[in-house]
Amino acid sequence: MDRLWYGGDYNPEQWPRDVWDDDVRLMRRAGVTVATVGVFSWAKLEPADGHFEFAWLDDILDRLHAGGIRVDLATATASPPPWLTLAHPDVLPVTADGVRLSVGSRQQYSPSSSTYRRYADRLVRTLAERYRDHPALEAWHVNNELACHIHHDYSDESALAFRVWLRSRYTTIENLNQVWGTAFWSQQYGSFDEVMPPRAAPTFQNPTQLLDYDRFSSDAWLAVYRAEAAILRELTPNTPITTNFMGFFKHADYWAWSRDVDFVSDDHYVDPADPAAPALAAMTRDLMRSLAGGKPWILMEQATSAVNWRTRNAPIPPGMHRLLSLQAVAHGADGIMQFQWRQSRAGAEKFHSAMLPHGGEHTRIFEQTVALGEELASLADIVGATQDAPVGIIADWDSWWALEQPATPAQLSYVRILLRWHQELRARGVVADLVRPDSDLTHYRAVIAPATVVLTEQAAGNLAEYARAGGTLVAAYQTGVLNEHLHVWLDGYLGGPTLRQVLGIRVEEFAPVAEPSLSGGPIPRLEIDGLAAGPADEWGEVIRVVDGTVEVHATFSGGMLDGLPAITRNPVGTGTAWYVGTAPENLGTVIAAVLDDAGIAGDRLPDGLEVIDRGPYRFALNFGTTEAELNGERIPARSASITSSDSRNALDTLDATAPALHHE
Ligand code: GLA
Repeated sequence: MDRLWYGGDYNPEQWPRDVWDDDVRLMRRAGVTVATVGVFSWAKLEPADGHFEFAWLDDILDRLHAGGIRVDLATATASPPPWLTLAHPDVLPVTADGVRLSVGSRQQYSPSSSTYRRYADRLVRTLAERYRDHPALEAWHVNNELACHIHHDYSDESALAFRVWLRSRYTTIENLNQVWGTAFWSQQYGSFDEVMPPRAAPTFQNPTQLLDYDRFSSDAWLAVYRAEAAILRELTPNTPITTNFMGFFKHADYWAWSRDVDFVSDDHYVDPADPAAPALAAMTRDLMRSLAGGKPWILMEQATSAVNWRTRNAPIPPGMHRLLSLQAVAHGADGIMQFQWRQSRAGAEKFHSAMLPHGGEHTRIFEQTVALGEELASLADIVGATQDAPVGIIADWDSWWALEQPATPAQLSYVRILLRWHQELRARGVVADLVRPDSDLTHYRAVIAPATVVLTEQAAGNLAEYARAGGTLVAAYQTGVLNEHLHVWLDGYLGGPTLRQVLGIRVEEFAPVAEPSLSGGPIPRLEIDGLAAGPADEWGEVIRVVDGTVEVHATFSGGMLDGLPAITRNPVGTGTAWYVGTAPENLGTVIAAVLDDAGIAGDRLPDGLEVIDRGPYRFALNFGTTEAELNGERIPARSASITSSDSRNALDTLDATAPALHHE
């Protein structure tokens, strides 16, 4: 399309026909360009086994087409109808405790169910055959938020599928025993038939079994996508296919998934009560651009105001929905879609906001809908523009799964750790990609590996080679503790000898910061001297310098770590390797030193302000609650200034009162 996508999920089956005319009229008024249709329509399309009713969908697609609105047509497989699971209870998913879930909600199927697959395949084939030549068809929307409610299924059918998956990975049971370390706690298996999913158990389960179940479950859901996509590719090879991702969603390794979609799309719901929400949104949008290999992506769902699924659902304050939409465009989105077009009158989501609220067209929210439609129409010349990022932050699902397992040195949040680094870059107007530990890193000026707890020998070598060949590498605590089997890298962690040599250090012992005691008594604080002087939280450790070239830039102060290195830097080859063994409050000084090493200019922007260039535009987004100033321009709270990126040279010549902003 030569316009930005703008619209939302459209669920006309929830409304009488006289409302449909009004829908198209108001969509046109709002500048809607695309509607996602049919996401939860299975029961309406196939009300009884093998009996299809398409007349209503024909009517809807024709109406939309007549109104000039393109259709992102869903395959309708997200919620099997009650008749299906009544006839085939084996389709229903089973929890780790052995409870078979019931109907009356959605996503009530196991990704491993062959019965589900058979019925879903038939529906997708029938739909594709009917609508492949419909003139409104813009894209296929496979299923919906795969794995969103059912992260893992523990049914017998999944147990069988898990064994097949394990057999193809390990070939022999001896190999599995070795990789899983089953000599521990008498867990040794005699054959694959003895292996179970990690169902509810008395205490800590085998860590590699847990990790493999995470990997298997992500693959099982991806297989659901692939099965549908294969049918669509066969029948409509020229229509692009997507499925909506869920941002930093732990249960689907989107690096693997992104290879299978024709374009990346994402659902993102900010928590209006969380001050860090815009920062998390920015990092998530960078992840989407990275998953798309730098190409544009679509924001497939967001809320216009409140959602219905938090304990208290605050509205999104005026101005914020526009800002978040522009932020997505600035980070590479070629479409801004919402859940949903018309707010439901009945059902579990009747209190979820929409583009057209319960109050109708004379409301704040509908005015907002119309205004955003106009603004996005005016930005059409951004469509297709790509972005270069000078910094890569490693994001790795194996590390995420491993870091957040039980029975580890501390319960840490992987996304929170990534966000701290990303936030510091964003605060300086420096764009970051998210990257895999084993991908080609050579085009980045700096690469940060925070808590990349799992490193294969090859990935550790990749990071080491990156630094030696001139890159600026930052490894931070809990990086390279384990290999891909979750076996410890002995003799100093850090991914083994190759990466250790580049960093010039060994890590000897972990010292996570204690949590408040039961008595509420004081807990020892962790303090840093030198670079990033001040308090640190979450993490300390015993670091030994083993190479004479290593510079110690910060030390711990007080307690058992007193005087030991906390932050080190090693000039190596033609590059630099930093190690950050703690979480300093003052992480900004570390970032500043790293950017300096990497030759990336980036001074701090005023609080709350995000500035980013894409294509012909420079977006200055003020998420703060007070006015911000950039190069003499005043940007009111919760508003944006969009200027031409042609003015970049003028803007980059900054005076002393305005913080500098430079891009590579
Ligand atoms: C998800 C789903 C939608 C809807 C929204 C509500 O994103 O895909 O169908 O349930 O959540 O926030």
